[in-house]
Amino acid sequence: MQKRMLPRHIAIIMDGNGRWAEIRGLPRLEGHRRGVIRVREIVETAYRIGIEFLTLYTFSIENWQRPYEEIAVIMRLLEETLEEERDTFIKREIRFKVIGNREKLPDKLKELIEQIEHNTKNYKKLTLQCALSYSSRDELVRAIRKAIIFNLKPNEISEEMISYLLDTADIPDPDLIIRTSGEQRLSNFLLWQSAYAELYFTSTLWPDFTKEEFLESIYEYQTRERRFGNIPDRTLKCIFSV
Ligand code: IPE
Ligand code: IPE
Ligand code: MG
Repeated sequence: MQKRMLPRHIAIIMDGNGRWAEIRGLPRLEGHRRGVIRVREIVETAYRIGIEFLTLYTFSIENWQRPYEEIAVIMRLLEETLEEERDTFIKREIRFKVIGNREKLPDKLKELIEQIEHNTKNYKKLTLQCALSYSSRDELVRAIRKAIIFNLKPNEISEEMISYLLDTADIPDPDLIIRTSGEQRLSNFLLWQSAYAELYFTSTLWPDFTKEEFLESIYEYQTRERRFGNIPDRTLKCIFSV
């Protein structure tokens, strides 16, 4: 894998756990459990190949509408997984952080997140950002509230300022957004930050998303031409060499 062409920041909408279980006649909870195995594998791979930032869409604000039993299972799984992984984060110098609206999270999980964030805040090898109780519009609403609280004047509102007020303040925009499970939508994920992200959709359900397919998505990214509204580099060279 060419280091030069690696996306700095990959964000993943990990979708399809429920369907994975349902087609096997298993409870949805089993899909979420299998999903965690993939999370470990993908974080490990991202770390090994030198990705700097990995954001995982883990639970959206809209997901709070789901049946209480499913929510409880997901919250418990999150807590167990974080407990198990905290030493690995420290050993590998992985910075862990959560973006989203924490108000509704169970107290114990909230405390655990705060501890791990604190203990890993200076690490730089990989930043693992977990979008939890997150939705982009909610993030924007909270950003606007902050602007009002800070008493910002109209001419102080700039793109940089808005980025600074978001939960992702110190994280570069994603270069590549992957969504599993065949849905081709963003579902309220990183709407501001995804302005020029490359999108990769796959029908693979999250519990089946292997490290090989993850690498495949990066190879595919490396074939894309990112123009950011400009004309391609090679055309520019042609124009100026005439
Ligand atoms: C993604 O899988 C995990 C969460 C949203 C928490 P889903 O639970 O949405 O799985 P499907 O889309 O119903 O298959
Ligand atoms: C998006 O998946 C949220 C996460 C993967 C955490 P959903 O399953 O909630 O999205 P929709 O409802 O299909 O758009
Ligand atoms: Mg889903």
